[in-house]
Amino acid sequence: MKFLWGVATSSHQIEGGNIHNDWWAWEQAGNIETGEISGQATDHWSRYEEDLANAASLGLNSYRFSIEWSRCEPQEGKWDAVAFQWYTKLVTLCESHGLMPMVTLHHFTLPKWLAEKGGITHPHFPDRFAGFVRKVISHLGSRIPLWCTLNEPNALAIGAYMGGFMPPAQISSRKLGVAHRMLLKAHVKAYDLIHEKVVEREGPWSSVPLSVGFAHNLIDFQPFNARRLRDRLLTHFCRRYYNQAWLDAVTGRKQHFGIRGLLPAPKQVWSARGRKTVDFIGVNYYMRAYPFWGAQKEQAEYTPFNGLPIGLAFQKKEDTVSDLGWAIHPEGLGRILRFASGYGIPLYITENGIADASDVLRREYLESHLREVAAAKTSGLDIRGYFHWSLLDNFEWKKGFAPRFGLWEVDYATFERRPRQSAERYAQLIRQNESDDGILAGLL
Ligand code: FCB
Repeated sequence: MKFLWGVATSSHQIEGGNIHNDWWAWEQAGNIETGEISGQATDHWSRYEEDLANAASLGLNSYRFSIEWSRCEPQEGKWDAVAFQWYTKLVTLCESHGLMPMVTLHHFTLPKWLAEKGGITHPHFPDRFAGFVRKVISHLGSRIPLWCTLNEPNALAIGAYMGGFMPPAQISSRKLGVAHRMLLKAHVKAYDLIHEKVVEREGPWSSVPLSVGFAHNLIDFQPFNARRLRDRLLTHFCRRYYNQAWLDAVTGRKQHFGIRGLLPAPKQVWSARGRKTVDFIGVNYYMRAYPFWGAQKEQAEYTPFNGLPIGLAFQKKEDTVSDLGWAIHPEGLGRILRFASGYGIPLYITENGIADASDVLRREYLESHLREVAAAKTSGLDIRGYFHWSLLDNFEWKKGFAPRFGLWEVDYATFERRPRQSAERYAQLIRQNESDDGILAGLL
């Protein structure tokens, strides 16, 4: 299969009018740092044709997007035909533009009716999610070759139950463990369902092997002070807990969603034991972060364990940073790819991008990260595609609309889209690397 060049988006961040999910409610309650609400977001719901045409104009051959569960099932057990029609149109449009769809089934948001019962920690969450996945399969299953069951379950569990930057923002180490467990259960159910139910295939990619994975947030953790043993030790725990635990779980190696003495481990998920439940690993890579113990407290965005003098810094003085203050380290992507490839499973870079409103850093960011991908691929790693985050500016969760991740700039007063220079740069890079099965020869 040809190397996939794509962009990634998610429903709630671009569609607008997602009134039936937990984020919508949380936004109204004033939880977004800027006081904003997602509202119409980028109005993608009406402007999807323009957006997909823009994506196709870059010479992409794939598009990663998510299907909004709360639109499809706004009330428990009540399915919305209009929502499914819209996603069907979207897939048809992908087909006519030659954009192979990679569908994410869960990208952070939950139907409000489920959130009110306890969301991802509710014992019925995996089954309810499976119900949604069944419906998606019955409408679109035959036409989708690539599936991400979940987006960043580690970030979601931590955001909701440890960091407090996602709803319901309940800080509880017990619930944190339960969230990991339920997400794993839900993932396995979706993985099995897709493989079991998607039998007939049709459309332009009917002969592409069905591939089901998840998108994993991986951070290049480096000790704040490499000379301090405690920083090094903490870094080791962060890597294990954040980067490794999910990969160990979905490859059947081991389930360790706790940290001894710090975070209680939840019970094992039997359906995941001793078996591989991914066909690919989706790597979402954005940043480096520096765990520290004690002294550098002022550098931390938040301190994860109240009472314990430990934290995570997102930049050091010498770093070049994005508009969000995230340190830019392309070599971290290389390290992460080598780490993830140790599982012997194909990799996609399912997200990589930068908040850079003035577009001064993005071209170099894109190029330097792709150079890492090229080097990794040339050294023999099985990397199958790269999806830039994001096609257009969008609603960046708790940070509101301020961070600008788009190859296209969105004017939120008029919803006009304007390409940034980086869009053209991405198109050029794709053209240069079209030959040789997208080996990225042009980048080396
Ligand atoms: C990732 C999320 C995505 C977007 C980017 C910037 O962690 O998956 O939705 O917010 O960060």
